[in-house]
Amino acid sequence: MTSSPADALDFRGVRRAYDTVAEDYATYLPDTRAEAPLDLAMIDAFVEAVTSGGDLRVLDAGCGPGRMSRYLTERGCLVRGVDLSPGMVARARRDHRDLMFTAGSLTALPYPDDQFAGVLLWYSTIHTPPAGQARVFAEAARVLRPSGHLLVGFQAGEGTRDVSPAYRRFGHEIQLERYRYTADQVASEIEAAGLREECRLVRRARGTERDDQAFLLAKAP
Ligand SMILES: C[S@@+](CC[C@H](N)C(=O)[O-])C[C@H]1O[C@@H](n2cnc3c(N)ncnc32)[C@H](O)[C@@H]1O
Repeated sequence: MTSSPADALDFRGVRRAYDTVAEDYATYLPDTRAEAPLDLAMIDAFVEAVTSGGDLRVLDAGCGPGRMSRYLTERGCLVRGVDLSPGMVARARRDHRDLMFTAGSLTALPYPDDQFAGVLLWYSTIHTPPAGQARVFAEAARVLRPSGHLLVGFQAGEGTRDVSPAYRRFGHEIQLERYRYTADQVASEIEAAGLREECRLVRRARGTERDDQAFLLAKAP
């Protein structure tokens, strides 16, 4: 049997960190008030692209406590959420009792092929190192039905950022870093997974953000 770089991925530290901060994360970020209007415009364009095809099934992949699942549901999508962190999943289930959440990894999504008309990766690929990016987008493409849409949101740039200090302010002693990717890097991963980029938005950092923010909308063949 051959092994790939993605086989060496270890998300235990990420899972532990998000389990630790889940309650505070959910309290601090209960909805989309932190998103800029441009960010929400990209989500609205994604919802329009998905729902105009008549199939409303959307996967919120890396859903955290489910705030974007709620946003998508309010706009007519039939949403399922999946997240690495059982603590996040527990909180999502508690806050959104009408929705379905499952623990699982972006690198091995617990769904059959062609299952969703839309997949949202909203700041959830940012803890996956370069060696795992291809696997994550291949999995998103696998669960997308033909002509389905993918929307990815992430901090744009290069190198890593230590995000532990932001959580220390809440009294959490965690180790957590995130990876920055350029929009071109993510676009080429998406194309390698067999999807076609439809549009992208890169906006400058605002408020307390440290990085530009990027959003890519892509479509399955
Ligand atoms: C910054 S939070 C974003 C959560 C949510 N999308 C939101 O916008 O509130 C990152 C989330 O991605 C999840 N995550 C990170 N790596 C993951 C992986 N390999 N598989 C599934 N979820 C992952 C984390 O557990 C965390 O809940």
